[in-house]
Amino acid sequence: MARRKLVYEGKAKILYEGPEPGTFVQYFKDDATAFNAEKKDVIEGKGVLNNRLCEFFMTGLNQIGVPTHFLKRINMREQLIRQVEIIPLEVIVRNYAAGTMAKRLGMEEGTQLPRPIVEFSYKDDSLGDPLVPEEYIIAFGWASQQDLDDMIALALRVNDYMSGVMYGVGIKLIDFKIEIGRVWENEFMRLIVADEISPDSCRLWDIETNQKLDKDVFRRDLGSLTDAYTEVARRLGVMPTNATPMTKPTLIN
Ligand SMILES: Nc1ncnc2c1ncn2[C@@H]1O[C@H](COP(=O)(O)OP(=O)(O)OP(=O)(O)O)[C@@H](O)[C@H]1O
Ligand SMILES: [Mg+2]
Repeated sequence: MARRKLVYEGKAKILYEGPEPGTFVQYFKDDATAFNAEKKDVIEGKGVLNNRLCEFFMTGLNQIGVPTHFLKRINMREQLIRQVEIIPLEVIVRNYAAGTMAKRLGMEEGTQLPRPIVEFSYKDDSLGDPLVPEEYIIAFGWASQQDLDDMIALALRVNDYMSGVMYGVGIKLIDFKIEIGRVWENEFMRLIVADEISPDSCRLWDIETNQKLDKDVFRRDLGSLTDAYTEVARRLGVMPTNATPMTKPTLIN
């Protein structure tokens, strides 16, 4: 029996070697973690929803010329992606105060910020992914000044796209995080969006009611996470809703 090579198993996803060099298969698990994996659970169906939603967002980004690692969806839980050299930073874009920012600055969650704010945290679970100033990033050589400028520009383009798409279905994009990686094309290096964009990595609030439709539902025990993600998918037309079984054979002309 053929076996594929496991490259990395993380908290929410597994990477396998892809069919061609330079590609990976990204598998979305049902595992949910929060607070640096102190809180854990298995949420049935989360992986399927995130795979679909991630496909939807990344396809849209690719189409408007924002480069991502996404190549194609393979099945319910897997997608084919380009292998990148991940820059060890979480790039966070905030439109409204929430989470750690609201806490740190004593702001009420949901306060609109004067403009989108981009911040970086250093990807290290043992340190709890600490927030780092841009100067650290340059000094420690995690990225160059040019990379940093490109990362900010990329993150802001993702923000404009995601804000617009979500606004169209009555959802406010409060904040999100992305990971960015390097790809090499001959002697040239490009930065592209990698990892995932899903309700696991965004804060999404209903415009009318401020109801949370993202991973905060899990973090703060606010109800069913699957219901929240299904609602996002339904509004975007991502998951088929006509799942009513056919009761009898139907003639199709
Ligand atoms: N295109 C890509 N090429 C290489 N690595 C990638 C790519 N996209 C995502 N990754 C990495 O694959 C892993 C995805 O797994 P997952 O998100 O479950 O990890 P995690 O538990 O959050 O851990 P980590 O702290 O490493 O992100 C992450 O380490 C992410 O940085
Ligand atoms: Mg991750």
